[in-house]
Amino acid sequence: MRTPILAGNWKMYKTVAEAKSLVSESKDDLLAVSGVDKVFCPPFLAVPAVAELVAGTALGVGAQDMYWEDEGAYTGEVSPLMAKEFCQYVIIGHSERREYFGETDADVNKKIKAALRHGLTPIVCVGESLEIRQAGDTERWVTEQVRGAVADLTGEQVAGLVFAYEPIWAIGTGLAATPQDAEHVCGSVVRATVREMYGAQVAEAVRIQYGGSIKPGNALDLMSQPNVDGGLVGGASLQAADFVAIVRHTAEAKGTA
Ligand code: PGA
Repeated sequence: MRTPILAGNWKMYKTVAEAKSLVSESKDDLLAVSGVDKVFCPPFLAVPAVAELVAGTALGVGAQDMYWEDEGAYTGEVSPLMAKEFCQYVIIGHSERREYFGETDADVNKKIKAALRHGLTPIVCVGESLEIRQAGDTERWVTEQVRGAVADLTGEQVAGLVFAYEPIWAIGTGLAATPQDAEHVCGSVVRATVREMYGAQVAEAVRIQYGGSIKPGNALDLMSQPNVDGGLVGGASLQAADFVAIVRHTAEAKGTA
């Protein structure tokens, strides 16, 4: 049994004060839901404050990105050594990083290796644009992204990863993938690629989230899919009540509530 994992990707929202109140507002309700891993991914400046608020609880903290070198003259970057002081997780290769900051599959691979070297769990994002989907190229595209991400990794390392399948056309648009589409890509593309490369045991262990316009109203259907092991939630994670509702729906869908 894979433990479902819900992560709130706050993106470039929330000052430290706002971050603290969002966590304080939702913390107890989130902790009351068992059987689901719950992670806050605040902007870097709010990470220490959030980590302090959740210290000693079952709530996790994730970075939204990081560089692959441990230290050095890389102005503006944050290293895995710094992230791991506060975080257990790190989002890697989000489509916004790929699109606006030019991250390649090779960069994603280096960041995953750096995270694993430091004991951080990578949440590895993959997903196609609308153009690729309309060209009928989704499977090939996502397969390539998965292969590029895991290059040179061992089965044991891959088993511990979290993937997030996030179709770009569904991110922030209010237009989520259908549960069937989410299930198809999570199961028959991402998990199938892992199975092909590393075998059934690793494929059954790896967790695969869906992301893209998850809301309280669609969470139960999306999370009921057998190959969807949770979600990466953007907009809805900025509202305490919405994120709590999504976590509750996930527990209900997976029968852990
Ligand atoms: P969204 O973002 O939930 O606002 O669509 C998801 C994401 O980008 O991780």
